[in-house]
Amino acid sequence: MSQAQIALPSSQGNQFGNKVWRTLDERLSLHSLAYPVPEYANTIPYILGGITLFGFIILFATGIVMTQYYHPHPSEAHDSVTYIITQVPFGDFIRSIHFWTANLVVVTALLHLLRIYWTGSYKKPREANWLVGVGLLALTIGFVFTGTIIKWDQEASEALTHFKEIGELLGGFGVLFSAEFSRSIPLLTRLYTTHITILPFLFFGLVAVHLFLVKTLKISPKPTENARAGEGYSPDQKMGTFAGHIRSMIGFGLILLAAAAVLSYFFPAPLGLKAVPGEEVTKPPWMLLWLYPIENVLGVAGILYGGVVFFILLALVPFIDRSPWLTPSKRRGMIVGLIVTIVILVALLVLAIISVPVTHAAGG
Ligand code: HEM
Repeated sequence: MSQAQIALPSSQGNQFGNKVWRTLDERLSLHSLAYPVPEYANTIPYILGGITLFGFIILFATGIVMTQYYHPHPSEAHDSVTYIITQVPFGDFIRSIHFWTANLVVVTALLHLLRIYWTGSYKKPREANWLVGVGLLALTIGFVFTGTIIKWDQEASEALTHFKEIGELLGGFGVLFSAEFSRSIPLLTRLYTTHITILPFLFFGLVAVHLFLVKTLKISPKPTENARAGEGYSPDQKMGTFAGHIRSMIGFGLILLAAAAVLSYFFPAPLGLKAVPGEEVTKPPWMLLWLYPIENVLGVAGILYGGVVFFILLALVPFIDRSPWLTPSKRRGMIVGLIVTIVILVALLVLAIISVPVTHAAGG
């Protein structure tokens, strides 16, 4: 099958669409982006990466609207968010779509990770792409953390206090995270530029590498009983089209957008009161909440240790599981490890939910 055949839209009836595609393809060589797509890759478990990517596009679009009105100075930030909510046309809705999509992409990214783990898709030759994925997850958490701070309410101010203390624990490495690093620009403003420039720059760089590796290594084979890492598709594997695959991603992505819109309508994004300096009364957002009980025992350092251990274990997955098998039934140790990890994380979450907020940070 030629690359052009892989890429061309499959719908025979859509003459206009085909003509537009051919016109663009002749000039932009779009077919060179295409890769072979087995039929099973158009099911939800295999589309989760594409849905996450679509979610990020929604985040960038709604984020760009908010940057027109948000003021990243400590004396103005909270009022400017209130302005977005109360004065900007559809401001509350756009901010809520941003908030809910951020929550949903963390869910879809984690489910994407679980699918890859379950089907052994991190195995040879995809170890490097697993590591790129771990980097993308770290950036996603970075977006959530900086996004929590820049709304500049009570929760934000407490998150910033923790951020500064973690910076101090990192010694020389943490100087970038300190207020003293730049005398002319407040830390809040620098975290805002991190949220809107540094993290997106790194994110797009890693996504480009991630997709380049998917294209060159192809989507992993089905984890059938005797499938081994590094092998190609079985000869009777039915193939779909690349255009159909992109259509599935956009279709499921639009469902994500619809879910964010419904949630935004019924539950607009929250904004707490302006921060009272020195108080520590809130808990972190749910994706970081499992670290809270560890912090209760070890202090702010617990967040650093818990986070570092989690990401190191995640990065080691392809190097721990060296068996050639893709099917979960022949990877019992890895599946038990996964279940134990999930049980620990859920137990930590429950502990975090039932515990009473306490002061951890010295500045809190
Ligand atoms: C957080 C943002 C992420 C985005 C936007 C993203 C996006 C994608 C996309 C679009 C694909 C191609 C899917 C296809 O063509 O069907 C993919 C595949 C892949 N992703 Fe991600 N991903 C992310 C996170 C992760 C994470 C956290 C991991 C693992 C730690 C990961 C590991 C992989 C691997 C190994 C593949 C190849 C899958 C296969 O061959 O079956 N990704 N990702």
